[in-house]
Amino acid sequence: MTKVSFIGAGPGDTDLITLKGYKRLADADIIIYAGSLVNPELLDYCKEGAEKYDSKSMTLEDIINTMAKGIAEDKKVVRLQTGDFSIYGSIREQVEELRKLNIEFECIPGVSSFLGAASSMGVEYTVPEVSQSVIITRISGRTPVPEDESLEKLASHHTSMVIFLSVQSIQKVVKQLIRGGYTEETPAAVIYKATWEDEKTVRGTLADIAHKVKEAGISRTALIMVGDFLGDEYNYSKLYDETFTHTYRKGIKNATKSE
Ligand SMILES: C[S@@+](CC[C@H](N)C(=O)[O-])C[C@H]1O[C@@H](n2cnc3c(N)ncnc32)[C@H](O)[C@@H]1O
Repeated sequence: MTKVSFIGAGPGDTDLITLKGYKRLADADIIIYAGSLVNPELLDYCKEGAEKYDSKSMTLEDIINTMAKGIAEDKKVVRLQTGDFSIYGSIREQVEELRKLNIEFECIPGVSSFLGAASSMGVEYTVPEVSQSVIITRISGRTPVPEDESLEKLASHHTSMVIFLSVQSIQKVVKQLIRGGYTEETPAAVIYKATWEDEKTVRGTLADIAHKVKEAGISRTALIMVGDFLGDEYNYSKLYDETFTHTYRKGIKNATKSE
């Protein structure tokens, strides 16, 4: 029996799919892709005659039925999702339905947009002694967010934050972050379509980012990045410090030893 391959398509740039994902895509008989976000040029990797379905206008039931029909006909089925499916990918419900039908599946990860965004901007979320944690979240809207995960509560950690699915409510995001304890001077950036050819980046602080984003006309497919990791202050890591030894580098005088 064939199986369903969930593939992370990456953030946009068609070279950013994994080699394993590319091979499955090139070999697939049926591809169900998330047309609202997946770069359509990725479909150029598919073989001639492959059936392609845009999940944009499909229900969960439509998607599962299409997968089940393909598997029953011994076809190779690919579910192509944007970025990596483990982040706002609605994959859980799909795999649970496949389990009920005893249909095998595999998951091939992709480059999430928050990683593509950091690469495009040349930034590190975990700058030594500035921030060592990253919070990935979203504002509540038509889809609720658990109360304990409100932006206000998360902001109290003052760590690096990447906010998905929220740029349309940027003013509300800023208000909640400030209420939660970030200062107006906290660096912020918004990146639209990271790694796509028409990528756009807006940089500022919590005081002016909402205004700048409005001016740039960005209202979807963007990430809001907030935190001092975007600022000018940084520290060198211990990893390459000549006075700091570790498992792979020893023997320098006056060195301190890592755990
Ligand atoms: C349903 S979520 C899917 C996220 C995806 N699974 C990932 O790993 O990137 C869609 C949201 O992801 C963000 N997003 C996806 N691709 C993006 C990109 N290339 N640049 C900026 N934001 C992106 C936007 O916030 C968009 O509204």
